[in-house]
Amino acid sequence: MKENVPLASLTTFHIGGPARYFTEAQSVEEVKETLAFARANSLSVFVLGGGSNLLVPDGGVDGVVLKMAMRDMNFESDGADTLLITGAGASWDGVVDAAGEKGIFGVENLAGIPGTVGGAVVQNIGAYGAELSNVFEYADVINKETGKISCITFREAEFAYRDSFFKKHREFVITRAVLRMGHDAAANTSYPDLERARASGVPLATPAEVAGAVRAIRAKKFPRIAEEGTAGSFFKNPLVSRELADSLAKRFVGLPLFPQENGMVKISLAWILDKELSLKGFSVGGARLYESQPLVVSARRGATAKDVDALALEVSEKVFDATGIKIEREVE
Ligand code: EPU
Repeated sequence: MKENVPLASLTTFHIGGPARYFTEAQSVEEVKETLAFARANSLSVFVLGGGSNLLVPDGGVDGVVLKMAMRDMNFESDGADTLLITGAGASWDGVVDAAGEKGIFGVENLAGIPGTVGGAVVQNIGAYGAELSNVFEYADVINKETGKISCITFREAEFAYRDSFFKKHREFVITRAVLRMGHDAAANTSYPDLERARASGVPLATPAEVAGAVRAIRAKKFPRIAEEGTAGSFFKNPLVSRELADSLAKRFVGLPLFPQENGMVKISLAWILDKELSLKGFSVGGARLYESQPLVVSARRGATAKDVDALALEVSEKVFDATGIKIEREVE
C-alpha cells in the first residue's frame, strides 16, 4: 500500500491529483486483502482498470485506489465455441489481438479501445456495430463490503448502452471475465465506416483484418494518447423517444438516427456538435472538442479537470438550448 500516488499518468486523460492510498492487485487474494484493509480503516475503494474512461479530480481521490493487475488469459474449447477466460486487469486490446491470432470472431469490431477487460465489462464498451455484451458469458466478482466471492451471469448483467449491472452496483469488483466467442462465422461490417472501408478495397474477411480496419478508422478520429489526453467520447449519444427523434430530424435535416430494439432512438451527438453547433475545436483552458470527432474531448498536457468540467458544462448548455436535451457524460 503506497500513499499519495499521482494518478494522472495512470489515466489516458493524463489529468488529476493523487490517490490517498494506492495498491495493485496481482491476485484475488490481494484484492481481498485490500478490501479488508479499507474496511478496517473505513476507507472507500475505487477500482482502477486502464484509466481510459476516467476524469480524476484535480484534488485527487480520497480512500484507496485499487489497480487491477490480474492479466492472465486462457482459451478453452466448448463445442463449436471458444471460451476466453481472462483476468480483469488484462489489456482489452490484447484480448482482441489474441482472438485475431486464433482466427476467432466476436471482438474484432472492438479493436483499438484502450483499457482493461474489467473496465470493458463495467462500461459495456461498444463500437462499429458491436458491444461487449454480445460475447459476455459471466464474471467472477468480490463484494467490497462482505468479501464474498460470486459469479454474475449474462442474464444478471443488465447490459444496455454503456451500462451494466456492474456499473450500477459498484460494490462488486470484477476479478475475472469469461467471454464466449466464435459462434459468429462471419465479420459484421454493416457499420457505415466499415462499409466505406470495404467499398474502397480494404480486406475484411478475417477477425484480424476487421480489427486492423477498425484501428485505422479509429486512428483518424481520436487524438494520439502519447501526445494528448483523452477518454474517447466524453458524452453518451442521447436516447430519445420516437416522437422527439422525428421532430428533431425535421428541424435538423440529415441528423443520423439509430432506432434501438426497445423503441427508443439513439441520435448522433457528434453530428449536432459539428453540423448544428459548429463546435469542433471549441475549447476551455487546455481542453477542447476534438476537430475530427467533436464527441471526443482532447486535453493538452497540463490541462486540468476543472478545464474539462467547464468545457463539458458549456457544451451541455449549448446542446440544451438548441435541442432541449440534457446530455449525459459517458466518462466517469
Ligand atoms: N459525425 C459528424 N461529424 C463528425 C463526426 C461524426 O457529423 O465530426 C456524425 C456522422 O454522421 C457519423 C456520426 O456522427 O456518422 C457518428 O459518428 P461515429 O461513427 O464516430 O460514432 P459516435 O456515435 O460519435 C460512437 C461511440 C464511440 C465509438 C463510435 C464508433 C458513444 C458515446 N461513442 O461514437 O465510442 O467508437 O460510436 O462505433 O456511443 C467511446 O465510448 O469512448 C467511444 C469512442
